[in-house]
Amino acid sequence: MSTAIKKVAVCGAGGTMGAGIALVAARGGFETVCFDLSSERLEQQSAAAAKFFDKAIARGKMDQAQRDAALARMSNTSDLNDLADCDLVIEAIFENLEVKRELFTKLNGICKPETIFASNTSTLSITQIAGGCGREDKVVGMHFCLPAQVMKLIEMSRGINTSDETFNNAWAWTETAGQIPVETQDKPGFILNALLVPFNNDVIRAIEAGLASAEDIDIAIRTGLGYKMGPCTLLDLIGLDTQVLLGEAFYPITLDTRASVPPLLRRMVAAGKLGNKSGEGFLTAEVAPKAESCLSYEVIGKTGRSFPDGDHPLAAGSVIHGDVRIYTGTCFEVNADKAAIAVELDTECLGVYTGELGDEATANVVGFARYRNGSEAPSNLIELVYKPHTKPAAIAAARAVFEVAGFDVVLCNDLPGRIVDRLVRPKYNDALRFVDEGLASPADMDKTCCMGLGYPVGPVGRAVAGGLARHYCVSKAIYDMTGQPGYAPARAAVVEHQRSQA
Ligand SMILES: NC(=O)c1ccc[n+]([C@@H]2O[C@H](COP(=O)([O-])OP(=O)(O)OC[C@H]3O[C@@H](n4cnc5c(N)ncnc54)[C@H](O)[C@@H]3O)[C@@H](O)[C@H]2O)c1
Repeated sequence: MSTAIKKVAVCGAGGTMGAGIALVAARGGFETVCFDLSSERLEQQSAAAAKFFDKAIARGKMDQAQRDAALARMSNTSDLNDLADCDLVIEAIFENLEVKRELFTKLNGICKPETIFASNTSTLSITQIAGGCGREDKVVGMHFCLPAQVMKLIEMSRGINTSDETFNNAWAWTETAGQIPVETQDKPGFILNALLVPFNNDVIRAIEAGLASAEDIDIAIRTGLGYKMGPCTLLDLIGLDTQVLLGEAFYPITLDTRASVPPLLRRMVAAGKLGNKSGEGFLTAEVAPKAESCLSYEVIGKTGRSFPDGDHPLAAGSVIHGDVRIYTGTCFEVNADKAAIAVELDTECLGVYTGELGDEATANVVGFARYRNGSEAPSNLIELVYKPHTKPAAIAAARAVFEVAGFDVVLCNDLPGRIVDRLVRPKYNDALRFVDEGLASPADMDKTCCMGLGYPVGPVGRAVAGGLARHYCVSKAIYDMTGQPGYAPARAAVVEHQRSQA
């Protein structure tokens, strides 16, 4: 697609997002006017732009002439009148409805009638930002990802009054600028943040509940799901104060309790622990090296969900009378003589075997599950489950057996869904519900998550690959134990479950 847009202005170009968007526009060949109230910030960003393009030369992405031309296309101003002849104005100023509305109303009186106004808002409504500005049909949502100069994805949305012509012209510009647009609706958080904000809050609530350490949550999500970055690393990067603002913006609009700010998050911010920017966030501990030796062990039952046929890395080392006993896919008996007994879990809690209160006879019993998305091949992750009365020596003995066999082991309390399913099932339900609500197509939902968040497979694709009927069973099991609406299986999963029962 080609574009008639030649000259672009970026408002808030002295800020994090605006600076990156200006780089995208200039790199894409457009004359780029960088506008900000702070001329000091604009100067800082000009220096950063030169460095960014220098690095691009070093990485072989552009040559000296292209770098010089890109920089020459950029100009700075703190005078709105300099935006008069721009074809497209992208605003990335403070996230405040009144401030954004005021900017577009002023610009309406300055810019030529055909200029398109785009907003990079993360949480506000495009329709509301456009309301009363005088050219509501020419306002469009254009949500870049951080850092804009690196991330290709743009979530594009129409306000109620946005014309097709405006939307199509803005879409064509993003493609010409080398970006990848996806279409979504004018709803809080579009696709990316609508999925991410509640998910990140779930992670914080899991830490608060004592489910697992932040370090183990990151390992579980990376190893179990293949995400490039663990959620606690991402939270520390986003900034915990920013996560508070996102929750405060989303919850009043969506009334989704998962979006509301978790008490632990508020306490962290009050304590000055904001993540990377303050030097301390959720991740604090070094991850201990894996065990290099373990006690002898015996495997009872050769196959289970964790070890489908032909895939039992522990089988070769199994002896007749081992110090540690591992039950896979079979019934279990207490035996106080064993250093540890590890019983394979499906969706049930360990308490089913030990009793909820536990006693001395079951103090050597732990649960385990090798994470597996439905019928897909198992991952390398072992979630090791303990109760308050479990002896630390039993946990260590079982852990060593799995680590020596090459698994990544994380410890978690005996709470529904353990780490991975507890965190990921609500996200799959959200994604499936969003498809039903017309927020985006399944393909765009997944593309957004893969491109914007580095997931290897998007949530819809993952839920489908594992089997929607299995998703139903896991989600329903957690829902029955917690009563939390996020686990109520989405319609598509209910339908597939019904089909599997027919
Ligand atoms: N930070 C992110 O991860 C992210 C991602 C996507 C979208 N966004 C959205 O981008 C926008 C900007 O966020 P940010 O994180 O870059 O903020 P920021 O605070 O880093 O930058 C905002 C910039 O806007 C300038 N500014 C404020 N009011 C202005 C006005 N009236 N006219 C001109 N300039 C003005 C400020 O001087 C500042 O340089 C927000 O709408 C935010 O929701 C942020």
